[in-house]
Amino acid sequence: MLAKLQGACDVEMYQDGDLPHAELVAHVSGKQALLSVVTDTLDRAVIEAGRDLKVISTIAVGYNNIDIAAARERGVIVTNTPDVLTEAAADLTWSLILGMTRRIVEGDRLVRRGGWKGFTLDFMLGTDLRGKQLGIVGFGRIGRAVAAKATTFGMKVASTSRTGQASDLAEAMPLDRLLTTSGVVSLHCPLTAETKHVINQATLMRMKRSAYLVNASRGPVVDEAALVWALENRVIAGAALDVYEREPEIHRGLLALENVVLSPHLGSSTIETRTTMIHLAADNIVAVLAGRPPITPV
Ligand code: GLV
Repeated sequence: MLAKLQGACDVEMYQDGDLPHAELVAHVSGKQALLSVVTDTLDRAVIEAGRDLKVISTIAVGYNNIDIAAARERGVIVTNTPDVLTEAAADLTWSLILGMTRRIVEGDRLVRRGGWKGFTLDFMLGTDLRGKQLGIVGFGRIGRAVAAKATTFGMKVASTSRTGQASDLAEAMPLDRLLTTSGVVSLHCPLTAETKHVINQATLMRMKRSAYLVNASRGPVVDEAALVWALENRVIAGAALDVYEREPEIHRGLLALENVVLSPHLGSSTIETRTTMIHLAADNIVAVLAGRPPITPV
């Protein structure tokens, strides 16, 4: 990837964690392209400081960290890495669903602390997925890929999305009906002003007491304090989270609960997928700098 970029331009690289915002603003000046990740806040200040910027290429499908309006105003092209991570993200979602409903992580903790006293018929019982409804909130590429794998586990699928589009993978329904009828609710919407805290105290109370919540989209889609309250009070049965409101900080209440699986933002993190994402992000920069249209513009 680096060789590819170096063949097209001079490269200045920062790889020791996140570049502080003020330094990003200072360093973007004079650059034509910015290659970034989800933890970089590319707001108006950065974009306006990058007077020579032609392209911002993010190695991610989500781009809520980028001020798209500011980029458009200044004619800066924004590109992301859709499609190539869809299956990895869907697989991670299913591993969260299975890990949570079969209590794998909780069991692992128990085994490690020497708490397992041997097989008994009623020990650490989980929940069957078969026959239950998987409710998918946000029916884009990843939501649909999660839905496509549901028949393997004998689940029927309901979906709710901004467009409410019909699909043979899922029964489209309003959010409230999806929440009251699903055994597992999985979030796959982008983070926008409309989706922030779409899962809150009121919506959690609409879910079944036996239901599980999965979030591998963006942390702020869930009101984390409300989720802790719901889990502590058994308003829902459990949750599996890959993303958090203030990453890498995790709400202390979540850490104390057994009925939660917590993974560290691993949605697309396989060797194969990350390699493909990085190459696609570099190819987008090379294309724009060569005056060609980007491959995957936002
Ligand atoms: C990761 O979170 C992504 O948006 O690709």
